[in-house]
Amino acid sequence: MYFPSTRLRRLRANPTIRAMVNETTVSLDNLVMPLFASAGKNIKKPISSMPGNYQLSVELLAQECKELYALGIKSVLLFGIPETKDDTGMIAAHDDSIIPSAIRAIKQEIPEMYVIADVCNCEYTTHGHCGTIVNNDVDNDLTLKTLAAQAVAFAKAGVDMVAPSDMMDGRIVYIRESLDEEGYTNIPIMAYSAKYASAFYGPFREAAESAPQFGDRKTYQMNPANSNEAMREIELDIEEAADIIMVKPALSYLDIIRRAKDTFNIPIAAYNVSGEFSMVKAAAANGWIDEERITKEILMSIRRAGADIILTYHAKEIAQWLKGEKYF
Ligand code: PBG
Repeated sequence: MYFPSTRLRRLRANPTIRAMVNETTVSLDNLVMPLFASAGKNIKKPISSMPGNYQLSVELLAQECKELYALGIKSVLLFGIPETKDDTGMIAAHDDSIIPSAIRAIKQEIPEMYVIADVCNCEYTTHGHCGTIVNNDVDNDLTLKTLAAQAVAFAKAGVDMVAPSDMMDGRIVYIRESLDEEGYTNIPIMAYSAKYASAFYGPFREAAESAPQFGDRKTYQMNPANSNEAMREIELDIEEAADIIMVKPALSYLDIIRRAKDTFNIPIAAYNVSGEFSMVKAAAANGWIDEERITKEILMSIRRAGADIILTYHAKEIAQWLKGEKYF
């Protein structure tokens, strides 16, 4: 007969000892709430596949930011839905374009809100691709110019951080130099470094009206089969002076987050994307899962994998569930 002398259950006996040996926490400080800025006035258009998320015109977006800040969510990531689109996305880079307008509205309402702006062309191009099309594919180097123009326009409007999500080669250094030349040496860049060509972006493309009108994004976003290549993407972005690197999506790529954490000494963000959010919402609406517990477990897993920052549509609800507490 054998009875164990080592018993791991000893440290699980009650809440106090469990808390004492707790390894991972999720704090509201780690969470960034993505928001969709829409042209027009008094617009609050529900995104059907992402319950609780809306396209908001800028004055309502600013109000939403005030509410988020009061709840303890101190950072937002902005996407824009413009009135009209063009061939290159340059339409996003004017002083009165949707994102610069949204940034100014937020900063006027609540200057403390830390505003991150996604930099990409897919919401702004007629064809829905992330850059300028030449011979049926996105031209890398022409696209760099539109991305840099966006980043500079956002900086002029008062953005706190820019986050390029296009996956063009060399965009981090190109954007860095463009910002620096204009005097914005202190605006950090969060690079979507390991961004996979993923079906999990489906609901977002409805939300941002950014689905590609032909083909797919496989010539610029990464193959889900690859992990070594992700390390190469991250390494290059760090060399190009990225301040934070991102892995996206999060849940099917927790191994990539962990590998990045073990390999590089730089803050890591993970994007808990729209499809991951919508799956939870759909199952919860059917009464199949405990939404609050599942959501917390998911965010915990992303932190445990090694993410410092989590971009998540669950951020507001997490803050509401915490009722004034700062972490779980
Ligand atoms: C734009 C962009 C996308 C997402 C963030 N930035 C969509 C895409 O690449 O098609 C997805 C976010 C989400 O699904 O929540 N390039």
